[in-house]
Amino acid sequence: MFPPATYATRRQQLAESVQTGLIFLPGNREAPMRYTDNAYPFRQDSNFRYFAGHNLPDLALTIDAATGASRLWGDDISLDHVIWMGEQPSVAELAQQIGAERGGTLAELSATLKAYARDVKFLPPYRAERVTFLKEHLGADAGADEGLIRAVIALRSVKSAEELEQMSIAVKTSLAMHAAAKAHAAPGQLEHETAGLIEGMAIAGGGRLAYPAIVTRNGQILHNHYHGNVLQKGDLLLIDAGAEATSGYAGDITRTFSVGQPLTKKQEEIYRIVDQAKTEAIANARPGIQNRTLHDQAGRLIFDGLKALGLTKGDPDESVAAGAHALFMPHGLGHMIGLDVHDMEDLGEDLVGYDAETQRSTQFGTRNLRLGRELREGFAITVEPGIYFIPALIDRWKAEGTCAEFINFGKLEAYRDFGGIRLEDNVVITGEGSRVL
Ligand code: GLY
Ligand code: MN
Ligand code: MN
Repeated sequence: MFPPATYATRRQQLAESVQTGLIFLPGNREAPMRYTDNAYPFRQDSNFRYFAGHNLPDLALTIDAATGASRLWGDDISLDHVIWMGEQPSVAELAQQIGAERGGTLAELSATLKAYARDVKFLPPYRAERVTFLKEHLGADAGADEGLIRAVIALRSVKSAEELEQMSIAVKTSLAMHAAAKAHAAPGQLEHETAGLIEGMAIAGGGRLAYPAIVTRNGQILHNHYHGNVLQKGDLLLIDAGAEATSGYAGDITRTFSVGQPLTKKQEEIYRIVDQAKTEAIANARPGIQNRTLHDQAGRLIFDGLKALGLTKGDPDESVAAGAHALFMPHGLGHMIGLDVHDMEDLGEDLVGYDAETQRSTQFGTRNLRLGRELREGFAITVEPGIYFIPALIDRWKAEGTCAEFINFGKLEAYRDFGGIRLEDNVVITGEGSRVL
């Protein structure tokens, strides 16, 4: 937790930006996995956590936008609960720790919300139970408030020094996970032996994984969470895994290496292109440049690198305009990162990643870029280029003649079982440029 003033200042800034209405920021509840007492690991809602700090269930925050008055709502636990859970701080104490007032019980919160219904402003819900709660209390036609969404995005997008310190902690644990994985993975092992090792390290670091880890010899399957393959000598093992610090801030790192031996010449040729794309993007990241530009530059570099290997052909500018590089990198160069790995994705990807000057592309590949807008000092982003050989996609493009003037489909045959390479770092935009966390 940060000092109370951090949360009080954030709430004051939010109130000044929103100006009117009652801002309602509900915390998460426990989510039963198989029955009530066997719940998923608890993780607080990131917006609640940003403004109210506590990583505890069954709390809610309200902020009167006109006055800035902030109240924390919740029920003090009964003796019955003390027997099972031990003594817990009272809601009044929890409120004091974040510089807020105690609101009332959850029943009193219900009554207040119903009374204020038309003036209540809330963020997009992502859990079914919250959708139901909001409908019951505020009416079936009540919708999330865009002004509130934009105000929260403006605050959360710029990371303070104390937030960056927490992100560095998450990244440090994440890097240790990757180093251990590389030292551990060996021919004959199952992928989940490495997956379990790194998940344990995330827990040992005081948090958990920031998202389900990707540990796969099939790196060409982009979000592959299957960990049941046996590793073979020389397999490219792609690991995309990040720890969440105790404070909730995320790391999101990807490394790819060869199991049981150095990279082969063929693997190294592709690796170098991806590594260069990452290095160049980080070198060019600075306030004022659009992330879309960095994405396009990476696409161009990948196209050029593959052209030198004979896999692509033709004019690089025309090929990038046509989207030919997306055959090899069908995802975006990166996204914001913070309290969430895809930071603020619950608030709407386009509102977070795009603005009046930058519209999301409709082109295959580039349309998956989550962050296109101009970078600003204090933004924390991922830079994660990759090259993948996806047999189903290659076959489709070849059959349909897509970008046929830019791709040497014949030469690609020798890469059908190559897999994929992605390299991902976490980067903060500084006054002049960028710094890798
Ligand atoms: N770990 C998911 C991503 O890199 O976006
Ligand atoms: Mn990742
Ligand atoms: Mn990422």
